[in-house]
Amino acid sequence: MGKGLTYASKTPDARGQVAYDAEEHATWAILYQRQLEILPGRACPEYLDALARVGLPSDHIPQCPDLTACLRQSTGVEIVPVPALISNERFFELLASGRFPCATFIRSREELEYLEEPDVFHEVFGHVPLLSDARFADFARAYGQAGLACRNQQEQDVLARLYWYTIEFGLVQTPQGIRTYGAGVISSIGETVYAIESTTPIRRPFDALDVLRTPYRIDAFQTLYYILTGFDELFSVAKSDITGLVRRAIREGDYRETASVRGTADI
Ligand SMILES: [Fe+2]
Repeated sequence: MGKGLTYASKTPDARGQVAYDAEEHATWAILYQRQLEILPGRACPEYLDALARVGLPSDHIPQCPDLTACLRQSTGVEIVPVPALISNERFFELLASGRFPCATFIRSREELEYLEEPDVFHEVFGHVPLLSDARFADFARAYGQAGLACRNQQEQDVLARLYWYTIEFGLVQTPQGIRTYGAGVISSIGETVYAIESTTPIRRPFDALDVLRTPYRIDAFQTLYYILTGFDELFSVAKSDITGLVRRAIREGDYRETASVRGTADI
C-alpha cells in the first residue's frame, strides 16, 4: 500500500537472490540495531520469542529463500519476493496459499525514520518472525481466503481494515501491560514508542466488526489502536465467516474517519 513508487524493486536472480550493495546492508544493520534496543517492554513476548527463533541476521539483508527455510520447521510459510506494489488479487492469492509477499528494496538513509512504501526491513523484521507462529500464519491464510471471496473493491477495502488493525498495527494485552505485535509498528522506531507510550491515540479492545467499520490512514501515526486479549482471538477470527462480517460492516456503515497525527522521528 502506498501513494506512489519512490523506490525501484530489485529483481531476484534465478536462485531467488537479490544483489544488495554494502550501503544497503549497512542500512539494514542500523535499522535492526535501533529496533532491537527499543523493542523490549514494547513488543509482545510472542514477537520477541519469534525473532529469536527465526534468527534474522543483524548485519545484512536476508534473502527470501533463506527466510523460507527458517519457517519450514514451524509453519511452512514461504517468503516470496515481489515488486513494491502488487494487485489485491495477487496479495490475497499469496496469503491464501501460505505465501507471504516481500518487497525487495530497502529505504534510503534519508528515510530511516518513516516511509509509506513497505521495504524489505518492514517486511522481514516486521512480518517474518510472527509468521513462524501457527496462530498468526493461520490468520494470514484466512485473511487471504476472505480476500478472494470478496465480490468487489468495496468489500476488499473494508476487509483491508482487518489486516491494518491487526497484522500491521495491532496491540495485545499481556500480563506486563499492552504490547505491540503489528509489523507497521515494530519496524518503525517512532511508532514503536508512540503506540505504547503516547497518551494521544485511543486504544480500544479488539472487536472484528468494529475494526471493519473503522477507516484508517497510511500517511501518519495511528490515532486508534485495537488491543487483542491474546493471540487466540486472532485464531477465533480466522475460523469465523470473515467475508460475512465484511458485508455486515458495510451494511452498518463506517465510523467517523479517525483523525491522524503526523509521524515524526522524535516522538
Ligand atoms: Fe506490512
